[in-house]
Amino acid sequence: MKDRPVLVLLTSHWLSMLGAALVTLAGFSWLFVLPLNIRGGPVSNPYIGLLVFIAIPIVFFVGLILIPIGIALAKRKVTENLSQVEDRRTAWRRAGIFFGVMTVANVVIASQLSYRAVEHMDTVQFCGQTCHVMKPEFTAHAATPPHQAVACAECHIAPGATGWLKAKMNGTSQLMEVMFNNYARPIESAMEDNKLVSSAETCEQCHERDTPIGPRLRVITSYKDDQTNTRTQTVLLMHIGGIHGAHLGPGVRIRYAAADKKRQTIPWVEYTNTKTGVSQTYLASGSTADSVRSLPVFEMQCVDCHNRAAHAFEFPERAVNQAMAASQIAASLPFVKKESVELLKANYAEPIPKAFSAFYLQNYPEVAAKQGAEIHAAGAALAAIYERNVFSDLKVTWGTYPNNLGHTDAPGCFRCHDEAHLTADKMTISQDCGLCHQLVAVDEASPDVLKTLELTPANRN
Ligand code: HEC
Ligand code: HEC
Ligand code: HEC
Ligand code: HEC
Ligand code: HEC
Repeated sequence: MKDRPVLVLLTSHWLSMLGAALVTLAGFSWLFVLPLNIRGGPVSNPYIGLLVFIAIPIVFFVGLILIPIGIALAKRKVTENLSQVEDRRTAWRRAGIFFGVMTVANVVIASQLSYRAVEHMDTVQFCGQTCHVMKPEFTAHAATPPHQAVACAECHIAPGATGWLKAKMNGTSQLMEVMFNNYARPIESAMEDNKLVSSAETCEQCHERDTPIGPRLRVITSYKDDQTNTRTQTVLLMHIGGIHGAHLGPGVRIRYAAADKKRQTIPWVEYTNTKTGVSQTYLASGSTADSVRSLPVFEMQCVDCHNRAAHAFEFPERAVNQAMAASQIAASLPFVKKESVELLKANYAEPIPKAFSAFYLQNYPEVAAKQGAEIHAAGAALAAIYERNVFSDLKVTWGTYPNNLGHTDAPGCFRCHDEAHLTADKMTISQDCGLCHQLVAVDEASPDVLKTLELTPANRN
């Protein structure tokens, strides 16, 4: 062995030996998973993804770094052993060829590995499934059209290398929190911890701010708490163009100060329009210029209204209404609306489908006998609603993450549009019901407008 410099170099210190072993191990593992690596992209199990795309590259690079460290540490021994080599020139030429070939091979393996590692870290699977802490957002993302197909990275990582690096640093500190089990439960919303990338770098990469959007008809179907689950419909004509233009139109700039981290209480609003020269400052009644001075100030952007664009969580009433409108929960079951909502809200001891069937067995045995299939389907639909909204281990439950687009489930628009924010000359931010939408029908059994437009549930969308 003394006449083989390669071996001398690699074996003179245990660190180099370890390094060589790790590189070999990772190299063989890499060959083994090469088909997967060439294909890239999501694999069936998130932990396999973690192993193939993250763990193997780490082992590989750690090994590569250890070899020269070991050689440097054992410098003395290396020189000594090498001085005993007899045919030095041939031996060194061979060593040169060996290290040359290995370097080329390593560069190929390393670049392919790091390319896949970087790519994998941006996949929905890595972001959402590797780490169970993300389960609520992953689940909601998968259930919220139309952004199901938009990768986590598109909204959570700013374009460019600095954005990527920043995201990885954030990610590493989050990983530490998970490892030491000291992360917040529920984890803070992205706006709450101020880590959300600005809408200009995310939403506005796909949606043009100035695209004119005409009015849109919204039909909301609800069911009452009575025995027959009386169905009603609300029809709104949303003035989207006016809404967008008022806050983000050319020349408009709105800034606001928030008194809480979730930005639900907004005591100060500033409106400026360079086109019209209008400039107003509104103070919530009860606040003074002094009391708001120390609060953080934000500039209004898409996510101030569309904060749950990709992770909308539901409330029991709304989720049950939708499941009933979609016939997943049969409206023919007596009191099904009331019972469903109560079960979803209760801290029940037995699984929801079981409790749901028990309700009908006990109170409506005839219905239970005749509509067994419907009861079974409804129970499953309820369990699904619960599972995509309540994550007890992470302390996520109904209403944990408020949706700011609206004003019925959370303050939303009315955080500012409450007529209680005043300028010095007593002007307010309007709450006129016709400002944002025309209320074409409110909780009507059969709105005329839908008959006129011949909109039935089947052809509405
Ligand atoms: C269309 C853009 C978009 C996509 C795609 C997206 N997010 Fe989000 N995400 C947001 C916004 C906006 C917020 C801020 C919500 C808030 O502060 O109310 C957020 C918040 C979060 C939060 C903080 C907790 C919370 O619910 O507020 C986590 C965690 C998160 N996202 C993870 C993910 C994961 C994992 C994926 C991919 C499966 C993903 N996001 C995809 C826009 C997006
Ligand atoms: C990677 C591209 C992409 C990004 C980033 C993105 N979106 Fe979208 N968004 C889409 C596509 C595609 C649709 C579907 C378009 C359609 O149906 O016309 C859509 C639809 C929407 C809709 C319509 C929702 C509906 O129910 O009809 C809203 C609102 C929206 N996006 C807001 C946002 C906001 C807010 C952000 C930033 C947090 C964002 N988007 C980021 C691609 C994107
Ligand atoms: C002041 C609040 C507010 C802001 C800020 C805002 N939006 Fe909206 N946006 C709305 C409302 C309200 C609707 C209508 C929702 C509905 O119809 O139910 C809407 C609708 C939309 C739609 C769906 C249109 C459709 O086809 O149905 C898209 C896409 C959209 N917004 C994108 C954006 C983007 C991108 C930004 C940032 C540049 C933005 N919005 C900023 C309130 C806002
Ligand atoms: C941070 C505060 C704030 C929030 C939140 C907010 N707005 Fe506004 N909005 C304003 C201000 C300020 C104006 C300009 C008031 C004025 O000119 O009288 C305005 C103006 C408007 C106008 C035009 C009013 C007019 O007289 O033409 C509409 C429509 C509107 N907002 C809709 C919405 C909707 C819909 C939401 C919720 C999705 C919302 N706003 C949320 C601050 C806010
Ligand atoms: C600042 C804008 C704004 C004002 C003012 C406003 N709304 Fe709304 N309203 C909205 C938005 C945004 C939604 C949500 C639409 C959606 O769900 O897509 C909404 C939804 C609703 C809904 C449907 C609720 C549901 O079950 O989903 C009703 C009913 C309603 N508004 C009634 C009113 C009434 C009554 C007034 C007057 C007191 C009023 N709104 C004033 C913006 C406004």
